[in-house]
This record gives sequence, structure tokens and C-alpha cells, in this order.
Amino acid sequence: MGAILEINDLKKLAERRVPKMFFDYANSGAWTESTYRANEEDFAKIKLRQRVLVDITDRSLASTMIGQEVTMPVALAPTGLTGMQHADGEMLAARAAEEFGVPFTLSTMSICSIEDIASVTKKPFWFQLYVMRDRDFVLNLIDRAKAAGCSALVLTLDLQILGQRHKDLRNGLSAPPKFTPKHIYQMATRPRWCLGMLGTSRRTFRNIVGHAKGVGDLSSLSAWTNEQFDPRLSWDDVAWIKERWGGKLILKGILDKEDALMALKTGADAIIVSNHGGRQLDGAPSSISVLPEIVEAVGDRLEVHLDGGIRSGQDVLKALCLGARGTYIGRPFLYGLGALGKEGVTLALEIIRKELDITLALCGKRNIQDVGPDLLYRTVARE
Ligand code: FNR
Repeated sequence: MGAILEINDLKKLAERRVPKMFFDYANSGAWTESTYRANEEDFAKIKLRQRVLVDITDRSLASTMIGQEVTMPVALAPTGLTGMQHADGEMLAARAAEEFGVPFTLSTMSICSIEDIASVTKKPFWFQLYVMRDRDFVLNLIDRAKAAGCSALVLTLDLQILGQRHKDLRNGLSAPPKFTPKHIYQMATRPRWCLGMLGTSRRTFRNIVGHAKGVGDLSSLSAWTNEQFDPRLSWDDVAWIKERWGGKLILKGILDKEDALMALKTGADAIIVSNHGGRQLDGAPSSISVLPEIVEAVGDRLEVHLDGGIRSGQDVLKALCLGARGTYIGRPFLYGLGALGKEGVTLALEIIRKELDITLALCGKRNIQDVGPDLLYRTVARE
């Protein structure tokens, strides 16, 4: 492997190091993957305005997301099964994010638990909640997140039913992983990954196992998860969770301006314009293409964040120019983790920071908080 200069280099290395079924789990979208592809492709259609002879010394990428200071407005998105990309993946990523000065968001569906993350970090992290039918379990998670000092709850709204990913089905991916000869072969060809896994304790789905009714061990997890996503989830439930949580609330999975206005009504602190990285409704528009109309609808009344398809600092800048206050990366940090563990997550963040800084300068700007649509030639037209 040559020099690692861009996120795609980390992706290639991760593909060589992570067993196929887990690499594919990250590198997949729903059905035809058209939305997954559009998320990235639509960023490339936006062109940046080059400016010259502007004083670009002393640049700053520092900003805030929901009032919290960040060294750049790029958080780590919540991702399930992160501990399968690399042993102790969530803990390593959380530490990398903390050292870098950006938020880490722990998924409900993670391998390590809320308490595991609290034990290896000093600053507050964010927790992502899936609202399961078992509301006692939801309350238990909220209480645990509070006890761990989480400084924001990210409530995911776009998974009332699970979108289908063909790669996972073809790979026979399940939670917990089955050990068929095919899977054993996939793991045996990734000795570095296996060695790492051997060295870890059995921190498996510890947000759920032992805490949810009927999930005493891993074997009962799959059936429980499949029946627990809640097709009846409503805005009243969001209001109920907001009250029980009592802290900063971010609503994730908004792609429509009417839903954005509903989110505003609930008094959320921020929304994440997101199509779940193209993993839910295939055929939905890219998140960057709907960002402008959502920003226009809600104005300054709540913070608008965005995720989906960010693969470079240039993409971050484009999202900020179109009105996002903050952005999130999912796969870019997972590729870093799978490739090089904690150092890989740091490297992914460093690559994005460098690209963001240089692009800002070449557009003739010094402060990331001072960018707008004037830096772009055109926005993405909705097709
Ligand atoms: C996700 N995402 C996700 N979102 C969420 O709210 N809870 C979760 O558990 C997961 N799990 C998950 C696993 C994997 C492997 C991926 C790639 C994504 C969605 C995630 O938070 C985010 O919306 C997307 O990853 C953003 O797109 P990019 O940056 O991956 O293109």
C-alpha cells in the first residue's frame, strides 16, 4: 500500500484488512444503491469559486455544533457493529474523536456499551437512540446515557422498518455473526483482524444484551432486534423522549421540509439532513441536494446538520456553504478504523481537516464560520 492521502486510500486498505462480510456491511446501501451513490456524486457536481489575492493567513476551522466547541464542524456519525470493523472499534473511534476535538456518537447497535465508552473518554460524547417497541428498554438507555454524561441525544427517525441491503443478505450477515465455512474463510484470510479480536474481551452488543427484556444472551438478539423497530413511532413519541431526556436533542433522518418543520415544532436543538447513508429508502434524493430547501424552511430557528456522502474536506465546505452548521462522517471513519484502528480514524479526520483548510484558503476565506453560497457556482438541481 502506497501513501494514504485521501479517504479512498483508507477504504482500499480496509477492504484488504476487514473480513468481507463486515467490510461490505459498511460499504453498502439499500437495494440498487442509487441513493448511496447519489450522496457522493451530487457533491462532485457542485463547483467551488476560486478567489485570488485575498489575505488568507491565520485561518480557523473552529466552530460550534449545538453550542459545543469543535475544532472543525465534522462529527463521527453513529454506526452499528463498529466493533466488527476493528476490535474495540467504538472505544478507539471515541478516543480518536476526543483527541481531535470533534463529537463522537455512539450507536444503540454498537458492540461496546455506553459505559465502555465513558470508561475510556474524559469528555462527554453523544448517544444515538433507536426507539424500540420496548419502551422500558428505551428509558433504560436514556438513563444510562444520562448517567454516562452524554451531552446530546441523537434520535434516529428513519428506521421504523429496516431497509434491505443485498450485500448483507448475500453474505449471510447476521447478529451475532454465524460461523459458516464461508465466514470462517473470510476471517481466516484477515489474520490481523482476527488477532485483534482475540485480544479483546466479550463486549458484544452490550447496550442491549442483558438490558432488554428477553435478551439474556447473544443468541436471542437477532429475533429481538427484528421485531423491535417501531412502525408506530410518532411525533408524540419524540416529544415524550425529549422530555425524558431533558438535554440537547438532535433529530436524525430528516429529508423533507415538512418533516423539518415538524422537528422545529418539537423544540429539537438540531436536525440531521440524512438518508441514513443510502441504507434505508433507495431512490430518495441525496442529502446535499435537499439541504438548501430544508435550510430555507427552518431558517435560523434550529441548527441544520448534514450527513451522507462526505468523502473530503471539500464536501464539508460545500455543505457548510449551503447552510449546514455541522456535518458527520460515517464510512470515512469506519474505513480508517478497519484499515489502521485508532490511528486510521485520526488519519481520516486529518485528511478531511487538511482538505477543508486548503480549500477554504483557495476560495479566499479565512474563517469557516464565514462561508456561504457565494463560494459556489451552483447548487445541486433536484432531478
Ligand atoms: C450507519 N448509520 C446508522 N445511523 C444510525 O442512526 N444508527 C446506526 O446504528 C447506524 N448504523 C450504521 C452502520 C453503518 C455501517 C453505516 C455506514 C451507517 C448511518 C450513519 O449514521 C450516517 O447517517 C451515514 O453513515 C452517513 O453517510 P456516510 O458518511 O457513510 O456516507
